[in-house]
Amino acid sequence: MDAILVKGGGPLSGEIPIAGAKNACLTLMPATLLSEEPLTLTNAPRLSDIRTMTQLLQSLGAEITTLQEGRVISMSSHGTINTRAEYDIVRKMRASNLVLGPLLAREGYAEVSLPGGCAIGARPMDIHTDGLAKMGAEIELREGYLYAKAAGGRLKGAVIDFPFASVGATENIMMAATLAKGTTVINNAAREPEIVDLASCLRRMGAQIEGDGTSRITIQGVDRLGAATHPVVADRIELGTYMLAPAICGGEVELLGGRLDLVGAFCEKLDAAGIDVTQTDKGLRVKRRNDRVQAVNVTTEPFPGFPTDLQAQMMALMCTAEGTSVLEERIFENRFMHAPELMRMGAKIEVSGGTATVKGVKRLRGAPVMATDLRASVSLILAGLAAEGDTLVSRVYHLDRGYERVEEKLRACGAQIERVAGE
Ligand code: EPU
Repeated sequence: MDAILVKGGGPLSGEIPIAGAKNACLTLMPATLLSEEPLTLTNAPRLSDIRTMTQLLQSLGAEITTLQEGRVISMSSHGTINTRAEYDIVRKMRASNLVLGPLLAREGYAEVSLPGGCAIGARPMDIHTDGLAKMGAEIELREGYLYAKAAGGRLKGAVIDFPFASVGATENIMMAATLAKGTTVINNAAREPEIVDLASCLRRMGAQIEGDGTSRITIQGVDRLGAATHPVVADRIELGTYMLAPAICGGEVELLGGRLDLVGAFCEKLDAAGIDVTQTDKGLRVKRRNDRVQAVNVTTEPFPGFPTDLQAQMMALMCTAEGTSVLEERIFENRFMHAPELMRMGAKIEVSGGTATVKGVKRLRGAPVMATDLRASVSLILAGLAAEGDTLVSRVYHLDRGYERVEEKLRACGAQIERVAGE
């Protein structure tokens, strides 16, 4: 299994292109099931999670071809569709549950394996299933699978009040509602840019959706959706991750395609820590103001708050900040698995429940480390860039799920980082 070797070093300088968003692409792809006509996504990221979603959709009968080395994904789901999403694929990636809404909307029936827990928390699907039940679905759990059937063969519009602004549930219900009979209103909907991107793609396909980007989304069901071509929005988490590279090592880096509106709350924290972010014609330019950053406190929240998907990376930055910072994780119950690994590099961190207290040290020291999830792995790479000596990050398959060519992108800015054969 491959590992990533990072040699801590000096400042970074250069440009990093930001890819299309993994989490947007993973919800846009199942939208193909809503139409008999082709859906083409451009600016797609080249990641193993995208290949897993491709496999899942192909197992359901979708025809998928990729062009431009995976940047363009062309999908067509005409004719007969298989309604069973098998555990073997779903267990690899939770986002597989995003086929539930589209299958149910199209076929009036779906069998989708429950994904099970994952390294960052239990992650149940009750908000998805309660919402679909309000739309007339009868849902039963048998042998690890959700069996869902629309009463009368077609979902009907409903007013759905979410107890929590779940990203996945908003996406599943929004897709399901596009073909339902009547109007669906989602109250307390998630407002993430990936939701806005999905709504904009569905509108291109002919859906009638209003209010995406706010906490009340209204969808007027239509009888059929058509063909569309849609560019995937930029990945705000990849963007935020690479913004932290010059923040942690010094230097100046420009993130091509970066947009301030995608990372507002994150930029406020960077500013307080002593990092300048400027919007340019090409993207975002990032530069640390002084030698050392200042400690800041962070609480993760649904968008537009500070994203949970940048918490691990922000912790890496706080490890060498001046002062003590408190990071509170409010979205997932178990998302501090990177803390003990960072501590192996000399970080001073205390975790208590959903709170981590980080006392900044002057310098981290390289060490062999491993990660249990995607964002944790990249936080260890960032820490390694700032550390004295070598850091070997193993279990790189986590990284490849969500970051394309991470070592090439950082190397282009002067980082000493390479992929090596591991045990
Ligand atoms: N939740 C429930 N019941 C539900 C749904 C969610 O209790 O029916 C809970 C979850 O257990 C979790 C919280 O609500 O504690 C947030 O879950 P949400 O549904 O909002 O997240 P998700 O759709 O499962 C997406 C991203 C995650 C990202 C979260 C939060 C995709 C494919 N995944 O997950 O991305 O952390 O939103 O922003 O879009 C990542 O990319 O590393 C990643 C984990």
